[in-house]
Amino acid sequence: MKINDNFEALPESYLFSTVAAKLRQYREEHPEADVIRMDIGDVTLPIPDAAIKAMHKAVDDMAAKTTFHGYGPEQGYDFLRNAIAQGDYASRGVNVNADEIFISDGAKSDLGNLGDIYSEDSIVAVADPGYPVYVDANVIDGRGGKLVDGKWSNFVYLPCTPANGFKPVPPVEHADVIFLCSPANPTGVSFTRSELEAWVAYARANKSLIIYDSAYCAYITSGDVPHSIYEIEGAREVAIEVRSFSKTAGFTGLRCGYTVVPAELCGEDAEGREVPLRKLWNRRQTTKFNGASYVIQRGAEALYSAEGKEQVSENVDYYLGNARMIRDKMTEAGFEVYGGDNSPYIWVKSPDGEESWPLFERLLTEANISCTPGVGFGDAGQGYIRLTGFNTRENTEEAMRRIIRMFNKK
Ligand code: MLT
Repeated sequence: MKINDNFEALPESYLFSTVAAKLRQYREEHPEADVIRMDIGDVTLPIPDAAIKAMHKAVDDMAAKTTFHGYGPEQGYDFLRNAIAQGDYASRGVNVNADEIFISDGAKSDLGNLGDIYSEDSIVAVADPGYPVYVDANVIDGRGGKLVDGKWSNFVYLPCTPANGFKPVPPVEHADVIFLCSPANPTGVSFTRSELEAWVAYARANKSLIIYDSAYCAYITSGDVPHSIYEIEGAREVAIEVRSFSKTAGFTGLRCGYTVVPAELCGEDAEGREVPLRKLWNRRQTTKFNGASYVIQRGAEALYSAEGKEQVSENVDYYLGNARMIRDKMTEAGFEVYGGDNSPYIWVKSPDGEESWPLFERLLTEANISCTPGVGFGDAGQGYIRLTGFNTRENTEEAMRRIIRMFNKK
């Protein structure tokens, strides 16, 4: 057999795996080092109690003949789809029906798998820097072209720089599929309503599909930042929205997320006929996925109870408190920083023009802090690092002390 050659064109390892491997090696060589992880966006607070109770009960369901659950619906159980439609959309005046919601084992899988439903020759646009799954998954699917000077020849890159506040703007070129993330990973900045309206207008004019990664929407506190792309008129005809329970309810280890494919959203087949994408995604999921686990879906459902909502909001506030502290302390110490208000991520410019990986190494060896090198999210991230607000308050405070000391900033 022959392999899928696209793998050979990819960088050898996925960004977060590379960071984890470097960290593992450093810890092996320096077992005494107390490394504080400010790299991957992994949570540190336990799962909200409402979800824990619901999952205990669901485990008991599995122990009795009358309540046992075998294969579930590939699209997810109605109890969770209804809770999401009500709790995340109707409650905000947004029109999303339960049968447009597909439950999955997380946003990352869906963002990577959606490539199954658009054509192999689609022109894909990605923010630079952006969450690496968008690029890597499309390269695996054969949409990358050639890698020249760190850029894939077939992609449209949407540069995010201080000049545009790190927010991608609609390009002059045509793109068939556009990945947008707001609040953004890695830069922590978010679209205002009018900025998102410009994207919906672009997608409508170009008959493009927007894949809207809204994994961090629970962190939005500003009034003019939409939580869902469907708050924008006309978005239902051009956008798929992907969300996650990882960063809201600490489900990084439990795995649950969902994708919304509105009924009106269509693509064209080779004959120019309109085909609903919901039908294709349903076909894809029923073929390749057997649904998220019953126990986990019961846990997710409980997050929409009054108790669950309160506990989620406490956790989000805690991480936002960390993020704000990082942003404020780093700003006070003279660093150039972005994000950290509607987002758990803080995007930090290297103070002396140092490149991202050397700065990563230096932070690790001199301060025992691990960060995510900005260049790992794309070329335009060179010279930046990303810090997360997901560690504990104590560790975050200590990390700030160490970084500020290392740079002799106060
Ligand atoms: C991140 O750190 O960017 C995320 O945690 C990665 C992910 O969600 O897969």
